[in-house]
Amino acid sequence: MTAPATPSAASRIAVVTGASSGIGAATARQLAAAGYRVVLTARRKDRIEALAEEINAAGHSATAYTLDVTDRAAVDEFATAFRTIGVLVNNAGGALGTDPVATGAPEDWRRMYETNVIGTLNMTQALLPALTASGDGTVVVVSSTAGHATYEGGAGYVAAKHGAHVLAETLRLEIVGQPVRVIEIAPGMVKTDEFSLNRFGGDEEKAAKVYEGVAEPLTADDVADTIAWAVTRPSHVNVDLLVLRPRAQASNTKVHREL
Ligand SMILES: NC(=O)c1ccc[n+]([C@@H]2O[C@H](COP(=O)([O-])OP(=O)(O)OC[C@H]3O[C@@H](n4cnc5c(N)ncnc54)[C@H](OP(=O)(O)O)[C@@H]3O)[C@@H](O)[C@H]2O)c1
Repeated sequence: MTAPATPSAASRIAVVTGASSGIGAATARQLAAAGYRVVLTARRKDRIEALAEEINAAGHSATAYTLDVTDRAAVDEFATAFRTIGVLVNNAGGALGTDPVATGAPEDWRRMYETNVIGTLNMTQALLPALTASGDGTVVVVSSTAGHATYEGGAGYVAAKHGAHVLAETLRLEIVGQPVRVIEIAPGMVKTDEFSLNRFGGDEEKAAKVYEGVAEPLTADDVADTIAWAVTRPSHVNVDLLVLRPRAQASNTKVHREL
């Protein structure tokens, strides 16, 4: 069995986007516990500051930096703080609506592309020099099973997550030979507090229906555990793509519900 790798001094910093809730917050906690100095970023300052306090109180190391990943000038300014970093987890993202192609709002499609794809592009471009300078960098892209297959009512999100998948796959081709791994984590159904609520514009009933009768949807911790596992493999091991779903979900459209 391969033991988890301990980060070297140059690669000890891990930047996590969307660390104010769900998968990002859980990932920050797990990477901190694995020995990384985590930099928590998201738009909600109070949430990331509270999480940084919690992580520091547990004897690990975290700082919070308020950042909108779609704001390129702000991302570039953020990146000037780092000469080297070990890990960038591109987790910020999400879905808006479940309208069919015939009636979906172009503005929702644009926002999903901006956050899930351009946000990931902004962060990756800005931090790639620091990841390379560490001599042992890792870029993680949290895509989705929506990045690999479509479903009715999902086209805007599916298109955006296909974009995130293609970004990861192409970057891996382009930087081969440099000391940076590119890992894509593609989760299926994960029950987090805000993902479905945001998708349905705050409608709690519609959000709850997504998980109705599903015995055990994945949790944020399940996904964070997978991210931390992939990141802590020895440097020469690149987990290209890891797809994870709950046992009750066989595909994006085939879900077992006990109703
Ligand atoms: N839940 C699922 O079923 C599922 C499945 C597959 C993939 N995913 C993907 O996993 C990631 C995390 O999802 P989650 O379930 O943890 O959802 P979540 O709790 O809604 O988390 C989304 C995070 O993204 C941040 N964010 C959104 N827009 C941003 C922006 N413009 N700039 C910076 N941060 C931004 C949010 O923070 P602020 O609002 O504070 O900025 C929040 O921390 C997303 O990329 C999502 O698409 C989720």
